[in-house]
Amino acid sequence: MSLLITGGLVVDPAQDLEAPQDLLIDGAKITALAPPGTIPPEGRRVISAKGLVVAPGLIDMHVHLREPGEEYKETILTGAQAAARGGFTGVAAMPNTRPVNDNAAVTRFILEAAKKAGAARVYPVGAISVGSKGEALCEYGDLKEAGAVALSDDGRPVTNSLLMRRALEYAQVFDLPLISHAEDLALRADGLIHEALVSLELGLRGIPAAAEEIAIFRDLTLAGLTKGRLHIAHVSTAGSVDLIRRAKAQGLKVTAETAPHYFTLTDEAVRDYDTNAKVNPPLRTAADVAAIKAGLADGALDAIACDHAPHTPLEKDLEFEAAAFGLIGLETSLGLSLKLVHEGVLTLSQLIALMSTHPARILGLPGGSLAPGALADVTLIDPHRAWTVDIQSFASKSRNCPFNGWNLKGRAVMTIIGGKIAGVK
Ligand code: DOR
Ligand code: ZN
Repeated sequence: MSLLITGGLVVDPAQDLEAPQDLLIDGAKITALAPPGTIPPEGRRVISAKGLVVAPGLIDMHVHLREPGEEYKETILTGAQAAARGGFTGVAAMPNTRPVNDNAAVTRFILEAAKKAGAARVYPVGAISVGSKGEALCEYGDLKEAGAVALSDDGRPVTNSLLMRRALEYAQVFDLPLISHAEDLALRADGLIHEALVSLELGLRGIPAAAEEIAIFRDLTLAGLTKGRLHIAHVSTAGSVDLIRRAKAQGLKVTAETAPHYFTLTDEAVRDYDTNAKVNPPLRTAADVAAIKAGLADGALDAIACDHAPHTPLEKDLEFEAAAFGLIGLETSLGLSLKLVHEGVLTLSQLIALMSTHPARILGLPGGSLAPGALADVTLIDPHRAWTVDIQSFASKSRNCPFNGWNLKGRAVMTIIGGKIAGVK
């Protein structure tokens, strides 16, 4: 089928393009990009994108889909559908499933299930260490051959610095980025929320910012030693942003992501003991939020990834101390991120780079551009459409979202994956 998307504002940072253009899709590929009205509509399905932004398909490089092993929380099908609804044409699935994605068989299983799901593309992330236990490295060549796009023990840090060094060295052989869950477990201890005024007042054990920053400093130092490609996951503190900015200035091959909750919420969100705001790393202070925004604006941070972490009431409807860490984000990520554009923190083009161009580049994915010849993964965004977050309407199986009832401005109205329309609202 031939699709002609007319009258939209095409924003494609990969081509440094932000202009009204018509976009032609033939089959699974983009075949033309031309001034409005210059591509003949005859024999083509025409989609009017008047008033809409036409962006390269959004890619969330950090989600948890829970399959295999915890299908009661999410499946590859429901997760990929939630992604498409949220405007994502692709997501990178973290390996902390049961079993852990530490071998080619699990990676292939995920890809098979994703193909059957027929929603957003799923790019498996393989584990750094067997069972993510931090003891022995996985077979990175096997994982890459099976389709893994990166390596991570996300959910827990690699505590052994020698093992992390070897991982950074070994991953280079296969040109796979290492995604670091940076956390000093001993310092974090049994903390529950950010260590500051709110933790003191509520009497909840704190997790100091230093528990993240010490671990980031170590990994940056090891990246320097090994010349390896390092990506820092879920950056949440001002000090972390500073460390990454400095490492980049020194020429290290480092990239980093943050999540919408880290630039939208502070630790104040847990004052009423809302377990949906219990997440690791924890929500920080207003000063951290300001630093995260500044990092997104000046390039210290490269990507926005929501760390979609589905849990059910079994894990969340408990006293604060016993509840699991994590919140879901695929269906609110774009709406929350667009706030940064409305506030003037980011340009539209910067936002699309953070949510598509850069994640594609970091993971070496085929999407992230609307240039003729590219994959026809496209997200149509209405940046001004007002809507209210309603967890009951989510495609995700889980409901652990702290943004229920929020009024947001801007959302994806169509997600096109490989030339096929995946979600219309
Ligand atoms: O809050 C979190 N949830 N942080 C993590 O690192 C893991 C994630 C999960 O898998 O639930
Ligand atoms: Zn995660």
